[in-house]
Amino acid sequence: MKTVAIIGAGLCGATAAAKLVRSGHNVAVFDKGRSVGGRMSSKRTDAGYLDMGAQYFTARSETFQRQVQSWLEVGCVEVWNCNTASLADDEGRSALDSSPDQQLRYIGTPSMQAPVKAVLAGIPVLTNCRIHALQRQGPGWTLIDDSGARHTGFSSVLLTVPPAQAEQLLVNSGLPGMLTAQDSLLEPCWAVAVRTDATTSPDAIFCQHPRLRFISHQATKTGRSRCYVLHFNAEFSRDHLDQPADFWFGQAVDVLQSALGIEGVIEPVAAHRWLYASQNPALEPPGIIALPDGNLWLGGDWSYGGRVENAWLAGLDLAANVIRYGNR
Ligand code: FAD
Ligand code: NAI
Repeated sequence: MKTVAIIGAGLCGATAAAKLVRSGHNVAVFDKGRSVGGRMSSKRTDAGYLDMGAQYFTARSETFQRQVQSWLEVGCVEVWNCNTASLADDEGRSALDSSPDQQLRYIGTPSMQAPVKAVLAGIPVLTNCRIHALQRQGPGWTLIDDSGARHTGFSSVLLTVPPAQAEQLLVNSGLPGMLTAQDSLLEPCWAVAVRTDATTSPDAIFCQHPRLRFISHQATKTGRSRCYVLHFNAEFSRDHLDQPADFWFGQAVDVLQSALGIEGVIEPVAAHRWLYASQNPALEPPGIIALPDGNLWLGGDWSYGGRVENAWLAGLDLAANVIRYGNR
């Protein structure tokens, strides 16, 4: 039986793995992280989880709506009943306005990675394992991890990591130039969590703001800590990429006080720098990328325009490629 190596245990890699297992393949999934989920990740705190990456997801395609329905039935996903608002900034003056809509938004329960864990149930995953390079051995592949350990005997490889990380891995493997996607396809985002006793009004705030992209309050999410999470926009995050956490906590406090009018103590909780977070809207999504005759495919949310749903769709398409061409 053929074994497929899948690098990356985000929703894309997980979905590809599950589809391949259903079609009779053996798979082995590798992830550099401590746990699965990738950018759908929540930090565990004493007071509950904190969503530091994706805050929610929508389901626009019928196939993904069916998948979400089955997650709702097993209880690893729920509808996020959030009050939406928009935050605009006009020459330094902020305006927060309620902006109700009918959009169904979903979250993992009790944490964002719950649906990824559910998809991967029973599938072998090696975490804390960063793949450094790939090596062709006859018709198959060997994976070499950061510690120099070799993982051998794979008929195909699926690379489901962000483009810049895929490019580095391909360079390390003597396969430069294969990636037709640009490194800058995914842009950075600093995510900052703070706690305050102030009563909250909107819990999903879409920002048109010089510094911010999104603010969410976690209180209406099952299992979460009562914190605000602020996502700084790509431009501001890039311009201050290497600033320490204290800088970001200061920014978060300033915005909550000046734009949301929050008074009283605002306590720092966590800050995380995502180097590759969101799709660069100026670049065309490249789709799935294939190494001709190499049984190597690359893809992720970035293949189709970012977002959780696109990660899932890319996972299905990567698996379909292996099923169609992987036995040659
Ligand atoms: P990833 O989740 O990035 O998975 C790739 C995996 O590869 C990671 O687990 C990583 O650890 C692993 N990896 C990387 N390199 C290696 C290596 N060399 N060896 C082994 N493993 C490796 N989407 C929405 O739909 N709604 C939102 O509200 C939303 N908000 C977001 C907010 C933030 C701050 C961020 C960062 C993302 C957000 N997104 C949102 C995007 C969403 O999280 C992604 O579209 C989706 O999770 C991507 O899944 P993926 O499997 O394609 O990639
Ligand atoms: P969606 O339909 O809720 O949002 C899409 C976009 O529509 C929003 O970004 C916002 O600009 C606008 N919008 C939607 N509802 C609004 C409302 N009630 N009031 C004001 N504006 C509203 O969800 P979709 O299409 O699934 O998008 C996923 C979300 O994930 C987006 O908000 C996107 O910005 C966010 N995201 C954030 C990343 C980050 O790095 N912080 C990375 C990837 C996605």
